[in-house]
Amino acid sequence: MCPGSYDPVTVGHVDVVERAAALFDEVVVAILHNPAKAGTFTVDERMAYVRAALAHVPNVRVEAFGGRLIVDVCRELDVHVLVKGLRGGTDFAYELPMALMNRHLTGLETLFLPGDPRFEHVSSSLVREVARYGGDVTGLVADDVRDALRARLGG
Ligand code: PNS
Repeated sequence: MCPGSYDPVTVGHVDVVERAAALFDEVVVAILHNPAKAGTFTVDERMAYVRAALAHVPNVRVEAFGGRLIVDVCRELDVHVLVKGLRGGTDFAYELPMALMNRHLTGLETLFLPGDPRFEHVSSSLVREVARYGGDVTGLVADDVRDALRARLGG
């Protein structure tokens, strides 16, 4: 499973999911959202953008889960490994406690892939911020996501 908020999906996410799909028979991209928090895109929009971005990878499916622990979702789906990309030390510091907590809860393991250096500066939050203030995010997200960000956030 490749879990995340995917608000919105970026080229960095796509790289990690493609690489996970080369390592495992089947990959679930899980869009986890907090029902009490509105994102920039609705869960349905995020799902549609992720599906479109990964339509070329046959062993990937996309699902969304709200207000649930990831370990419970993984148990239900019989998933045993989370795969996450690490852009650097800051990501590791953020991810390590979650990986340890998930292993503590049910033994669910996390596998970290080194992020492709070409995408080290790419995150959903930075893409949103750049788009909000009128910067060009072409090449960091799909063109339809870029256009939707412009329409939604201004810029
Ligand atoms: O893309 P993000 O926002 O960095 O992804 C974080 C996410 C959604 C993977 C994480 O917040 C998560 O697993 N949320 C589900 C709720 C949960 O299980 N929380 C405890 C994790 S130890």
